[in-house]
Amino acid sequence: MRKPIIAGNWKMYKTISEAIEFANEIKHDCDTENVEVVICAPFTIIKDLKNALEGTNVKIGAQNFHYEDEGAFTGEISAKMLREVGAEYVIVGHSERRQYFNETDETVNLKVKKALSESLTPIICVGESLEQRDSGITEKIVTDQIKAAFSTVSPEEAIKTVIAYEPIWAIGTGKTATSAQANEVCLEIREELLKIYGEETSEKIRIQYGGSVKPGNIKEIMSQSDIDGALVGGASLVAEDYLKLIKF
Ligand code: 13P
Repeated sequence: MRKPIIAGNWKMYKTISEAIEFANEIKHDCDTENVEVVICAPFTIIKDLKNALEGTNVKIGAQNFHYEDEGAFTGEISAKMLREVGAEYVIVGHSERRQYFNETDETVNLKVKKALSESLTPIICVGESLEQRDSGITEKIVTDQIKAAFSTVSPEEAIKTVIAYEPIWAIGTGKTATSAQANEVCLEIREELLKIYGEETSEKIRIQYGGSVKPGNIKEIMSQSDIDGALVGGASLVAEDYLKLIKF
């Protein structure tokens, strides 16, 4: 049985004071039974948000990091630095990072391995563009991203990861993939994991859907056989909506 995981991706939103206000709005009402609950926050917020949510089951994650331990990499943050401020998860390979910041399948793989070695849970994002979907190559694009991300990752490590299937055309557009469309690709991802790791491992890895998830559609999305959670952008910024999402 895979435990559902609902994660907010706050992207480049919220100052420390805004994050603390959010925490105060949710902290007496955010207990969930059998749902893992995460907020992936901007670096500057992580520590204060973690403190503000102390005593709740909300875990904190980051949205990116560098795969090297340390070095002359101006502007970068290491996995150890993230652990030190209390992050337990990190998003890897979000389409916005692939599109605007040169994230490649190769750096995604390096980051997955480094996150795991530092006991950070990587939330590994994959997904196709509208053009790729329209050309009928969604399965190839997504399974190639999966193969690359998990290259030389052992089955014991692979089960600690979370995958997020986020069709690029559904991110921030209000266009959600239908639950059937989303589940179909999540099934293809699980089949690829089955080829790489065999049944026992592939059945344990959780796959989220992301792209215009809202309180109004999360129930339907979560009812699908191979969708184990959601990675939510916009709606996760609003306390009232976040509470509805984690209590789907
Ligand atoms: P939206 O929920 O705003 O579409 O964003 C999805 C996303 O990119 C989560 O990582």
